[in-house]
Amino acid sequence: MASMAVTVAGLELANPVMSASGTYGHGLEMRHFAPLSSLGAWVSKTVTKKPRPGNPLPRICETEAGFLNSIGLENRGIDAYVRDVLPDMARAEVTVITNIGGESVEDFAELAERLDSEAAVAALEVNLSCPNVQGGKLPFSTSPAMAESVMRRVRAATKKPIFAKLSPNVSDIGEIARAVEAGGADGITAINTLLGMRVDWRTRRPALNTIQGGYSGIAIKPVALRSAWTCVRAVKIPVIGCGGIGSPEDAFEFLVVGCRAVQFGTASFTDPSRIAHLADEMSTLLDRAGLAAVTDLIGTLHASAAVAKVPGAPS
Ligand code: SIN
Repeated sequence: MASMAVTVAGLELANPVMSASGTYGHGLEMRHFAPLSSLGAWVSKTVTKKPRPGNPLPRICETEAGFLNSIGLENRGIDAYVRDVLPDMARAEVTVITNIGGESVEDFAELAERLDSEAAVAALEVNLSCPNVQGGKLPFSTSPAMAESVMRRVRAATKKPIFAKLSPNVSDIGEIARAVEAGGADGITAINTLLGMRVDWRTRRPALNTIQGGYSGIAIKPVALRSAWTCVRAVKIPVIGCGGIGSPEDAFEFLVVGCRAVQFGTASFTDPSRIAHLADEMSTLLDRAGLAAVTDLIGTLHASAAVAKVPGAPS
C-alpha cells in the first residue's frame, strides 16, 4: 500500500486526512460513526473563553449544493472543554488540534496560554474567520495587521504548532497568508466558509435568522482550491486545504497544488462514517497510479507559463 504518512508543521501524521472544525463537535460525538484513529488529525469545533449559546434558530439551511450555517460558535467554553472533553480525547489515539476563537486579540492569547499545558492538545487552529459572529465583519481575517497581531500574541502564548484558519471573503488571501506567517503561524488552513444567503421568495423571509451565513460544501471546492494554491505560493509554511472536499480525488487536487493535508467537513453530513475510509481509499488510488507515497503528489502541479500569466493570478 502507498505510504500515507505526512509531516505538517512538525506533526507526524499517519495520513493527511483531518476533520474540518465544526463538523463533528469536539470528537467524542464522532466515535459513534468512525474510529478517530483513522484520521491523521482531529480538529475540534471552535472553543471560546466563555460558553456561547450560538445564534438564534434557524441557523442552518440546505442549498442546491451544500449548505449555509450561522451557528455562531456555540460551545460550552474552555473550562468545560478541558474538564469534560480532553481527558477522553487523550485516550482516543489521534492527534488533536483544538480550534480556538475569540472576540479580541486577548481572548485568543488567553486560550492559547491555557491550552499550552494540556498534553492532549497537539496543536491549535486559530479561527480568524468565523463569518457568524461580530455581525459578519470578520475583523481578524480581513485585515493583514489584525491577522498578524492575533498570531503574534498566540505565538507568544504557546510553544505548540499554530495554524491560522483563513477566510475566502477577502480580495487577496495571499496578503493575509503572508501576514499570519509574519505573525509566527506554523501553518495555514485555507479556507473557512464563503459568506452567502438564501431567501424564501414566497414569505420574503431569509432562511437564516442572521440573514447571511457561511456557505460550505462541494460547490465551494474550486474557490477553496484556488485560495489554497494562492496561499501555497504566498508563504513557506504548510497549507492545509479545506472546502468542498468529499472524495479521495478532491483531496488529491489540494495536495497537487501544494497542500500538505486536507480537511473533510460538510460531506460528512451526508455520510458521517465516510471520513474513516478516505485515507485507505486514497492509498488504493495512489497504488493504481503507481505512486509509492502520498507525498509524491504534494506540490506537483504543472503550471504552464500561459497559466501563470492569467491577469490577477498570484506571481
Ligand atoms: C459557526 O459556529 O458559526 C461556524 C464556525 C466558523 O465558520 O468558523
